[in-house]
Formats: sequence, structure tokens, C-alpha cells
Amino acid sequence: MSDTFNAIVAEKSEDGTFSAGLKTLSLAELPDEPVLVDVEYSTVNYKDGLAVTNTAPICQKFPMVCGIDLAGTVAESNTEAWQLGDKVLVNGYGLSERHWGAYSQKQRVNPDYLVRIPAAFTTEEAMAIGTAGYTAMLAVNAIRDQGTKPEDGPVLVTGSAGGVGSVAIVLLARLGYEVTASTGRPETTDYLKSLGATNVIARDELSRKCKPLEKELWAGTVDSVGSTTLATALAPTRYNGVVAACGLAGGADLPGTVMPFLLRNVRLQGIDSVMAPMAARERAWHDLAQLLDPKRLKDVYRVEPLARVPELCASILRGEIKGRVVIDVNA
Ligand SMILES: NC(=O)c1ccc[n+]([C@@H]2O[C@H](COP(=O)([O-])OP(=O)(O)OC[C@H]3O[C@@H](n4cnc5c(N)ncnc54)[C@H](OP(=O)(O)O)[C@@H]3O)[C@@H](O)[C@H]2O)c1
Repeated sequence: MSDTFNAIVAEKSEDGTFSAGLKTLSLAELPDEPVLVDVEYSTVNYKDGLAVTNTAPICQKFPMVCGIDLAGTVAESNTEAWQLGDKVLVNGYGLSERHWGAYSQKQRVNPDYLVRIPAAFTTEEAMAIGTAGYTAMLAVNAIRDQGTKPEDGPVLVTGSAGGVGSVAIVLLARLGYEVTASTGRPETTDYLKSLGATNVIARDELSRKCKPLEKELWAGTVDSVGSTTLATALAPTRYNGVVAACGLAGGADLPGTVMPFLLRNVRLQGIDSVMAPMAARERAWHDLAQLLDPKRLKDVYRVEPLARVPELCASILRGEIKGRVVIDVNA
């Protein structure tokens, strides 16, 4: 086994200058954790964009190996829970924040963070889903857990051509919900319909000042945008509807009123993927394996090499990535 390997490392110099790029590391430099994973694939999520470009202070120590999602094979294990050859993934849990992360051909990880990859998926497919898809599943489960059924009305997906949005459309359509997809990229209309959206609306229809309550339209929403879009999604939510707030691509504020909660019994459900308990993760990955046909995933992602991570991270923050990007860390 070669002792050296490639990784995307974020560093801060003594004068505070941030840089992130491809570096060669050795096994001895990896953290002292019980499970060594031969990483095969990672992904580019919005949060990776924030970390690698230093747009937000995601990395809490330096040097930091970036990347919040990894999938690969256990190469060494000092715990009985994991054996050599097990196919595993990690979503979040502070990777790229407090712990060295996924943009690396090898990584040592805390065994409590590992999820067994469902037999339905390869490591590449698991990363085509990644944190974005697993978050979409958590959001869809929040809508299902509220008791919202397909016959209760259409479900809105915002930021729909992005990672969370694309997977949410596929999952909701598969479960029989009628999906309205909102996008700022009209050129993605055919793509969104191919994923299962029935209606596609312009982003501008939501990024506007809304009335406290508007004509009832949606039984639920998966929102990855936040700000005025989230407020405007709440105002036309039907009685007893649920809005799953998972993102802030349009801003972190919430300029709305409490009227949908008080007069329509609407629930605003937060979605956190990073520290979600293991039971919620295992349920989500179990559900993903039931609901996602790996063949359909092919429409949602493309594969790129590790060296392109910095460029792709800048691109996702500009809202240019359609669907998902998988990183082949060995390419
Ligand atoms: N809560 C969690 O645990 C969790 C987990 C994963 C992701 N997230 C968050 O969810 C969001 C989406 O993540 P992602 O990986 O799916 O990112 P993504 O692929 O970049 O998708 C975000 C989408 O939002 C839309 N958008 C971008 N900028 C916008 C703006 N200024 N105003 C309105 N819409 C805008 C775009 O969709 P259109 O082009 O279709 O309009 C874009 O494709 C991010 O904020 C991310 O941080 C949270």
C-alpha cells in the first residue's frame, strides 16, 4: 500500500491568508481514528463550496481536508463493528469542519459516523445521492411524518435544479406526489419534468414580498433557498401543510409573518443533516434504497476528478451546477 496520496487541503498562513488546493499527504498525517477508509468517491455540495472558497468559515481548524461526504471501502478497522471490505459512507458529522474530510484518497474516521451503503447502490451512486440527496430524503420524510399524503395537494420544491431539489423531485414523484418545481433557470424545465415535476414555475414568483396569507396552493414544500422564497412558500401553504426548510441558497433571513402557523396550522420543520441521529440516517438511506432506481440517478449526476474540486466549488456558489457532481478521488 502506497504511503502517500492526494487530498484537497485548506490552509491558513500566519498572516491569515486562506488557500485550498491539491496536496500530497502521508498516512502518518491522518487523524488518529479507528477506521481507515480507502475513499472512492465524494461529492460537491453547497457547503463544500462555502468551505473550499472560504466564503463562510466552515473549516474550524487548519490544515483541513475538505469534503463533507465520502464513500469507500474499509481498509483497516480497530473496531468489531466494521470489517475489512465493508462499503461505507459518511454524511456530515463535522467532516471539513472539525474533522478531516472526504476530498482525500484515504481517510481515518470515527466508526460511529459510518453508515453501511445499501446493497442497491455502488459507492459512486451513494455519492450521487450524497448529503444533498440524503437531506432531500430527510425533508420528504418530514412531509410524510406530518401525515401529508399525495391527495392533500401538490408539493413545492424550491432551488429545484440544484442537488437537494433534484433528488427531492425524484423522491416525491416516486411517492405519488404532484410536484411543482421552482427554478431560476428556465432552460432546466425539460430536465425538471424528466425527474418528475408536473409544473415548473419561475424563481421570481417566490422571491417577492408576500401577503401574510395567500390563496392555498401547496400541501408541503421542500425549500433549499430560504429568505423571501421560504416566506412566500409559507403564505400559500394549505391548512395543516408542512414546509421543510433545508437551505439558504437565497439567504438566511425569514421575512414573513406567523399567520400561516396561527390560522392554517402550518408547520415549519427544520432539517439538519449534519448531526442527525444515526437512526434518522439509517432510515433515510433505507428509504433511498427503496425509492431511487440507480438507473434514474444517472440523469442527475456527472463524475469529475479530485483536481477540479476548487473550480466546481466556486461554480456551485454561482448556482451553475445542475443536479449533482460526484468526485472520483482516484481520477
Ligand atoms: N440542512 C442541511 O443539513 C443541508 C444539507 C444539504 C444542503 N443544505 C443547504 O441546501 C441548499 C441547497 O444545497 P445544494 O447542495 O442542493 O446546492 P445547489 O446544488 O447549489 O442548489 C441550490 C439551488 O438553489 C437555487 N439558488 C441558488 N442561488 C439562489 C438565489 N440567490 N436565490 C434563489 N435560488 C437560488 C438554484 O436552483 P435553481 O437554479 O433551480 O433556481 C440552485 O441550484 C444550500 O443552502 C445548502 O447549504 C442544507
